[in-house]
Amino acid sequence: MSSQLNETPMLQMKGITKRFPGVLASDNVDFDVRAGEVHTLLGENGAGKSTLMKILYGLYQQDEGEILLNGKVINLTSPANAISHGIGMIHQHFMLVPTLTVAENVSLGLKSTRGVLTDLKTVSKRITEISKSFGLQVYPDEYVWQLSVGERQRVEIIKALYRDASILILDEPTAVLTPSEVDDIFVIFRKLADAGRGLVFISHKLKEVLDLSDRITVLRHGRVTGETTPAQSDRHDLARLMVGRAVKLAPDKPEVATGDALLRIEDLYVAGDRGRHAVQGLTMEVKSGEVLGIAGISGNGQRELAEAIAGLRTPQSGKITINGHDTTFCKPGQVRDVGLSYVPEERMKDGAVGDFDVKENLILLNHNREPFCTNGFLNFSAIRAHSEKLVKEYAVKTPSIDTCTKNLSGGNIQKLIMARELDANPKVLLASQPTRGVDIGAAEYIHERISQQRQNGTASIVISEDLDEVMALSDRIAVMFDGKIMGIVKQEDATRESIGLMMTGEDQEA
Ligand SMILES: Nc1ncnc2c1ncn2[C@@H]1O[C@H](COP(=O)(O)OP(=O)(O)OP(=O)(O)O)[C@@H](O)[C@H]1O
Ligand SMILES: [Mg+2]
Repeated sequence: MSSQLNETPMLQMKGITKRFPGVLASDNVDFDVRAGEVHTLLGENGAGKSTLMKILYGLYQQDEGEILLNGKVINLTSPANAISHGIGMIHQHFMLVPTLTVAENVSLGLKSTRGVLTDLKTVSKRITEISKSFGLQVYPDEYVWQLSVGERQRVEIIKALYRDASILILDEPTAVLTPSEVDDIFVIFRKLADAGRGLVFISHKLKEVLDLSDRITVLRHGRVTGETTPAQSDRHDLARLMVGRAVKLAPDKPEVATGDALLRIEDLYVAGDRGRHAVQGLTMEVKSGEVLGIAGISGNGQRELAEAIAGLRTPQSGKITINGHDTTFCKPGQVRDVGLSYVPEERMKDGAVGDFDVKENLILLNHNREPFCTNGFLNFSAIRAHSEKLVKEYAVKTPSIDTCTKNLSGGNIQKLIMARELDANPKVLLASQPTRGVDIGAAEYIHERISQQRQNGTASIVISEDLDEVMALSDRIAVMFDGKIMGIVKQEDATRESIGLMMTGEDQEA
């Protein structure tokens, strides 16, 4: 814990209230940040964490309440304005432009008196300096679309550091990082705090919250319901504070007899975005009634494998069979037709259409079928009834099924996609990072549902960087490294150590 905590907080939010149509997102919230501390905001999906921080970053204006910086009231009218006050934010959903380079993205919005080209050189040079001094590896000339999610996150962090923010808002910065990247970034966060910055940290991972925080404020339904410290509370206490009840950490897994292999992959080769083989000669099968977990550090071919199975990326060679059909070169719609459900890693890019409302996203892939469409006419009452049912069953928190999906909180968008995909009664379920960004109550629920799919005879693949999640859900665990399967072990024979070793490419016998 830092010794630099000042008496007067450098930032104070007082009595902040923010209403959206049908939602009281912030309800008279008091929140402050002191120099030298990491202050964590903890709360369920939709509790109002991002909203409060977007107000602080000038993206939203509060309906009531005031914000004080070093004791003086400030009016935050835009992010540019917040940045000029030394407030920086790393967003939950990336705000980078994919078709620009890293340096171009970082330079966006920077005030400049010189020409663009000279500036870009200077920018690149400083990026490299920041990148070196904090051990955040990025290459200024690479295009953002070429980068993995973890790499994009690093660019976001560099972008904020470049602007030398004294208050740094980190909205789920670790959701997309690997465990070792999290360790590294925590060293950096601690350095930034010790140097006198104030950090606001948001995460659903309680272990991280306990590791990093100086103070923890809990939000529920837009209201502050408690303040605590890691010394005063353990994981179970935090879970209870957040959810209002005790939370189960692993799902019940009744014995299920496995059947035929519903997914078969033979000697599969898939190219990555940078041209080299991302998946290299991969062979595996998943049986009816079984959950196969795929562990591994991101960037080892998991994304390309998932996209190949889902029909989003054409394999170079090899064979994929789903429920007896050769789907190697099929389009996403055709793969779906033979029984695949897919929960993608990048939910806003591949999983849901932000500008569509909740019901439109729930029937996105069935809108031209019975009962939602008869003889070319949409059946609105069937669509409404179906959507209401799914929203209720999966506890998607939304004012209504007519709400625009991009206005839902991050975790609730994930629940919505999960509802749609599981409701399709898949033969094969492919879920990438199914609980990334999802609160612990909802994660418990999603785990139960995936577990239940075993009883329906579904063959499930769960790709996750969260070792605890893989261990809790899987019957067998495959470890992916450098585009290949390093080994497959039964859940009961797996230990964190043996899986961890394979994740780094070392054989367990070594
Ligand atoms: N622009 C908006 N328009 C309408 N409603 C919104 C908007 N932004 C947020 N909301 C609503 O406000 C509430 C709080 O959302 P917020 O994104 O702040 O939650 P959160 O605590 O960050 O959740 P998560 O952990 O899922 O990210 C939610 O009910 C959300 O649907
Ligand atoms: Mg949020």
